[in-house]
Amino acid sequence: MQVLCVSQHDSPPDAGLEVSAQVSVCVYGYRQSFASTPKGHHFRHVFPDDSSVLVVHSSAGALNASVGKADTNPSLARRSVSSLTSFPFANASHAYPIADATEMVVTWVTGHHISGKPCVEYGIDDLSMKAFGHSSRFADGGHEKRHIYVHRVVVKDLKPSQTYQYHCGSDDGWSAVYHFRAKTKGSHWSPRFAVFGDMGAANAQSVPRLEQDVRRGMYDAILHVGDIAYNLHSDNGKVGDAFMRLIEPIAAYVPYQVCPGNHEHKYNFSHYDHRFSMTDSRTGSLNNHFYSFNMGPAHFVSLSTEYYYYTDFGWDQIRRQYEWLVDDLRAANSPESRAERPWIITMAHKPLYCMTDDRSCSPIDSSDAFQRRRLRKGIKMQGSGKRKYGLEALFFKYGVDIQLYGHEHNYQRLFPVYDNHVLNGSTAHPYHNPKGPVVVITGSAGCDEHHAKFRKHVPDWSAFRSTDYGYTRMTVHNKTHVSLEQVSDDQKGKIIDRFVVVKDRHL
Ligand SMILES: [Fe+2]
Repeated sequence: MQVLCVSQHDSPPDAGLEVSAQVSVCVYGYRQSFASTPKGHHFRHVFPDDSSVLVVHSSAGALNASVGKADTNPSLARRSVSSLTSFPFANASHAYPIADATEMVVTWVTGHHISGKPCVEYGIDDLSMKAFGHSSRFADGGHEKRHIYVHRVVVKDLKPSQTYQYHCGSDDGWSAVYHFRAKTKGSHWSPRFAVFGDMGAANAQSVPRLEQDVRRGMYDAILHVGDIAYNLHSDNGKVGDAFMRLIEPIAAYVPYQVCPGNHEHKYNFSHYDHRFSMTDSRTGSLNNHFYSFNMGPAHFVSLSTEYYYYTDFGWDQIRRQYEWLVDDLRAANSPESRAERPWIITMAHKPLYCMTDDRSCSPIDSSDAFQRRRLRKGIKMQGSGKRKYGLEALFFKYGVDIQLYGHEHNYQRLFPVYDNHVLNGSTAHPYHNPKGPVVVITGSAGCDEHHAKFRKHVPDWSAFRSTDYGYTRMTVHNKTHVSLEQVSDDQKGKIIDRFVVVKDRHL
């Protein structure tokens, strides 16, 4: 193996980073880009087969890179780090208001047991502070029965809005040095997001552009609305490992918030459960299936649509999630909460409406698949009785403003819709005080299942659609304005759709 290219170029003017250079390293199919600070940068990368290690060191404008056998450093040979950050984490003691929590969870995976407690070393100017966490082990369900070790460290008492350097590891070895920015306090700021679903380890076309955006400091969080890696469990979990490495240049720098999709269902969602660390800011519990969090003037609710489809794993989880949803939405609608954070935004995988050309988006009214009837209207528990736990009426009752979905491998913007009726704010301005929720489906980040075509019949609620690969950017500007735009990767980053939701009343 040899280094094929190492490049160094000037920092882009809008990078928003204190950097002296942008550095890219390519080794066969692997590429790593990073911002080199005036103090230099040093990282090691162990390749997926654990056979080789790449070492890069930059200092005072000079750049050195080398590739060697990983077994020259036994500790690195045993390490395979994919670092993720997520927030907010709130411990059960609730030492301060959840909305102002300044904590970050760092999660990584190794293929072997590590010595001692997993650790994150971090700091503003150096890595002088330490936080320790816990490790857990789970067995993949494939024929190799691989054991995968997950390490979670909660970094606490962070200064709001402050950028920290960090690396993670143990006495066995350390990751590269990354950085994250602690969450900004309060509701008077404008969080920015990249939103997409259905991104796999193969044909992940949007990743380089997302990585570039992250390096330029364009986002405060990533929202991956289900269908991850294709699949986390495939090839004895090695595809999941490869995907985590793929997104590391994104997810090690910006909180990576997820919800479950159908591609996560294998072995009762065990890879999904173990590899991510989503925390419900209201209860403080770790729950990757349903949780909520606040950012700026918005309350985000993440939920599982897959409970309604994978009932082999149980029926009661549908009820438990629904009751949690009622409690969460009720709390978000208290006069104080709605005044502080008027926007309620949901993220889930399967949309309630879609016009993709397949049976699951069927327009045939007699079918349970009719615009996802079991999600919209409710499901017959154990297959009989009245439909229960429908989401559409619940979201409408509690004034959910925007719904983000994936699953369809395309982009769709809908007019405000409820019960198949368009409820525009006005003919000229459909998104000014819309009378129903605004729905965006963004499942075209790129995966090995490629695009999904549209039905020929265009429903009244369909406002814009595209099969270009890409992703959505969303900014919650303030208490009255949210803007969304669709980036086409096929068209070299061209914005192919843009709209603003304006609301001065939310119920
Ligand atoms: Fe899906």
